[in-house]
Amino acid sequence: MPIIHVTDRAGNESAIEARPGYTVMETIRDAGFDDLLALCGGCCSCATCHVLVAEEQLSLLPAMSPDEDDLLESSDHRQANSRLSCQLEISDALDGLKVTIAPED
Ligand code: FES
Repeated sequence: MPIIHVTDRAGNESAIEARPGYTVMETIRDAGFDDLLALCGGCCSCATCHVLVAEEQLSLLPAMSPDEDDLLESSDHRQANSRLSCQLEISDALDGLKVTIAPED
């Protein structure tokens, strides 16, 4: 099973198991991270699942949709490595992915 590494807003890093077919957001939420609100449940309409991805792993990710891009534009904390974790589906290719939960907007 793929493992992803999650750093919360306090700087604590955890390695959690991820099931292929689920999203990074679902994986983080189901592991009990309170920092990731994911208020819209993964419909790409809230941006509360914002994460920062390790820059060297950005090329592993699918291209960003215009909707994701627009939502991230609404964040004061957008960076070049920002993604919405509900738009990232777990696969074996993402084993070892490192994400940091973005600051709250
Ligand atoms: S959970 Fe709302 S945009 Fe990702």
